[in-house]
Amino acid sequence: MRPSAITALFLTLIAPVLAQYNFSSSPFRLMIESQNSTLNGTVLGACHENAGIEALCPVGSTLDDSATSVTTFYQNVSYFRDSSNSTVNTPGLLCWDLYLGSLGAISSPMYLNTMPNSNVATPIISTGRTILQRVVFDECGWLGIQSYLDDSSAPPARRLKTYMNWMVCTTYFSYTMETLAWVLGSEPIMPQNPTCQRVLVKRVFIEP
Ligand SMILES: *[C@@H]1O[C@H](CO)[C@@H](O)[C@H](O)[C@H]1NC(C)=O
Ligand SMILES: *[C@@H]1O[C@H](CO)[C@@H](O)[C@H](O)[C@H]1NC(C)=O
Ligand SMILES: *[C@@H]1O[C@H](CO)[C@@H](O)[C@H](O)[C@H]1NC(C)=O
Ligand SMILES: *[C@@H]1O[C@H](CO)[C@@H](O)[C@H](O)[C@H]1NC(C)=O
Ligand SMILES: *[C@@H]1O[C@H](CO)[C@@H](O)[C@H](O)[C@H]1NC(C)=O
Repeated sequence: MRPSAITALFLTLIAPVLAQYNFSSSPFRLMIESQNSTLNGTVLGACHENAGIEALCPVGSTLDDSATSVTTFYQNVSYFRDSSNSTVNTPGLLCWDLYLGSLGAISSPMYLNTMPNSNVATPIISTGRTILQRVVFDECGWLGIQSYLDDSSAPPARRLKTYMNWMVCTTYFSYTMETLAWVLGSEPIMPQNPTCQRVLVKRVFIEP
């Protein structure tokens, strides 16, 4: 490899770590859209998995209820696209504030927890991670993840596509419970966990 190619590869791989991701979007809630009317319109909340570790669970309330700290998220990006501080289509960290009494709020980012034997990953919120999952929100507020193409080009192309492989499944991390999940792979999206129901996740800003 030419040195410039090596540098480019190096920068690609470590960019998520080097970038600051210290500009916060306005706070928002995450609403589920589903064919299942029980899930449709419910919002996601941080739910306890372990000390300082949370998954995202449908908390059964709707947007008609007032936002609580459990259902309040924000996105940290490295740059704002314009003076209105828009974060549309800007990759960044999905963050949630863990309140620790007198220590105050600890900004906690999301990563995807994978298991070697499954194509179903669980989004987990934790402060103790260096490999984090960047997410994007499109013009309509739908939550996605961008990744490089490797299913339709050889060799894999350094061309980003946005995927929305969200599910609500009964998962196990520290507890068995119903959480947001992500199916690894591209179309067709086929979770091996039989409890999974396909959903979309929408950002709804919290009115000040
Ligand atoms: C998000 O940005 C805010 C504001 O700069 C910062 O205080 C916080 O630590 C950041 N969170 C993460 C997880 O980087
Ligand atoms: C984020 O980090 C950059 C580079 O260190 C700095 O210039 C900027 O002021 C920081 N922004 C916030 C909101 O802390
Ligand atoms: C889900 O809720 C949206 C409104 O938030 C509604 O437009 C849609 O028809 C609902 N879908 C189902 C299957 O209930
Ligand atoms: C709808 O979702 C609820 C909550 O996850 C689940 O208990 C129920 O079985 C689902 N209904 C259908 C028809 O899948
Ligand atoms: C945009 O973000 C910067 C840095 O966080 C802040 O100083 C500024 O007031 C924000 N502007 C708007 C329009 O919210």
